[in-house]
Amino acid sequence: MQHIFEKGTKPVTFLLLHGTGGTEHDLIGLAKEIDADANILSVRGQVLENGMPRFFRRLAEGVFDMEDLRFRTDELHNFVQSAAKEYNFDVKNVVAIGYSNGANIAGNLLFRHEGSLAGAILHHPMVPDREANIPSLENVKVWMGAGTNDSMCPPQETEELEQLLSAAGAETEVAWFNFGHQLTMQEVQQAKAWYETKF
Ligand code: MLT
Repeated sequence: MQHIFEKGTKPVTFLLLHGTGGTEHDLIGLAKEIDADANILSVRGQVLENGMPRFFRRLAEGVFDMEDLRFRTDELHNFVQSAAKEYNFDVKNVVAIGYSNGANIAGNLLFRHEGSLAGAILHHPMVPDREANIPSLENVKVWMGAGTNDSMCPPQETEELEQLLSAAGAETEVAWFNFGHQLTMQEVQQAKAWYETKF
């Protein structure tokens, strides 16, 4: 998978997952704002929708191609496992930072692969797969940022996702912002404050 790896000085590795139409460059500044010393593995989505990179296909806005989502999630999981060997980072200490489409595939990593992530910062996520048999998420820490006026990702999606994650044992926190789908500096600062108390 097309990606960027940057070695940091801390044991934690950020897995950066951009939104629709983004690239592996998009979230580097955000990651450095949260922790400038973490390793960075930033990946480009392999699917193109009218030229826009995404992490999995969708049939319409908010309607996912479930077969592709599952396939791409497993592919991303395998990629992170092999990148950990190649770049020599601790695969048990990976924290995903995803926005929108990237947050959705990060959520699906949690839904499908036990131990795939130590934590996740999910900006405007949805429930990725309602049929998933979610593994134990004991010791996994998840922060979610959501917009009260987000038409792409309505508040009940966030609430349902939080319920599913915490029912599986994850420690969750949701922060609400009076905005739509956009990612603001205020939201990033709150994610950073949470991260600093957990990692
Ligand atoms: C998705 O397709 O993952 C969501 O609709 C969010 C997005 O458009 O990126």
